[in-house]
Amino acid sequence: LTELDEAMRRTGDAVTALLDTLLPAVAGPRGRVIEAMRYSALGGGKRLRPFLVVSSAALFDVPQAQALRAAAAIEMIHCYSLIHDDLPAMDDADLRRGRPSAHKAFDEATAILAGDGLLTEAFAVLADPATHEKAEVRCELIAAVAHAAGAAGMVGGQMIDLSDERAALDLDGITELQALKTGALIRVSALAGAILGEADDAARGALKGYSEALGLAFQIADDLLDAESTTEALGKPAGQDSGADKATFVALMGIEGARARAHVLVREAKAQLDLFGDKADSLRETADYVIARRH
Ligand code: IPE
Ligand code: IPE
Ligand code: MG
Ligand code: MG
Ligand code: MG
Repeated sequence: LTELDEAMRRTGDAVTALLDTLLPAVAGPRGRVIEAMRYSALGGGKRLRPFLVVSSAALFDVPQAQALRAAAAIEMIHCYSLIHDDLPAMDDADLRRGRPSAHKAFDEATAILAGDGLLTEAFAVLADPATHEKAEVRCELIAAVAHAAGAAGMVGGQMIDLSDERAALDLDGITELQALKTGALIRVSALAGAILGEADDAARGALKGYSEALGLAFQIADDLLDAESTTEALGKPAGQDSGADKATFVALMGIEGARARAHVLVREAKAQLDLFGDKADSLRETADYVIARRH
């Protein structure tokens, strides 16, 4: 294992342990939705967004406990987005993280509610004083995360992805789709550390530039894996995008063109980090990782 793998695993384990305590099981009929929330939030995943939160927070010496709470909240929102993305009305995918999707392990209504529950609970976690002692800082973080998750961010991107117009999108259109659908949550993950650390505008600008390029590279890699990998390796159905006529960089530029674009984006991402010096090495390695990953 490389140092980055080790560090990602440590952060992943810490965020999973925190999610376990933030989402305690309950008895009675209400327990079923909590069980579905736990199934989705505790059941694997690369925990990339938490790692970005923790790595960006480390640049500004934010206490680890605060960074992990922001990381757990953003991961809850990511898990909600996956539950809903897999529903029959959206991508209709039966497999997620190597296990039955939430609506298969439970049922559709429970899966919808589990997504709603995770999205909502995330904001309760962010609003808690344990996330930051200053209310203004918590409010800023809540607003940034809400904006990234909502119709100007992830939800808006999912809408474009499902629309009839998506087949006609050009490069700029696909770039916007990806920036919203996947990029917005990745961007706010990298920015969360700067918000918690009350960083200056130069640092925030650098992290925005880094994460915007990173998010695009990440979604290109997701699309390349969809085209080139297997369901077994991915733990989610491969080959869904071409089957569904999805607008992706791969569809528009071909495998080699998309891969070349991803490499350029990774270089652009890393070029933003100079002002942080060695402290940003894990963010630099993360940029290489997002396009080298096998799942
Ligand atoms: C998958 O995200 C959905 C996209 C936004 C492309 P990840 O590849 O981060 O999924 P997990 O969390 O590792 O399962
Ligand atoms: C979904 O993109 C991104 C989300 C907001 C969940 P995809 O539909 O490509 O994600 P996968 O490939 O199912 O993980
Ligand atoms: Mg989708
Ligand atoms: Mg999908
Ligand atoms: Mg995909």
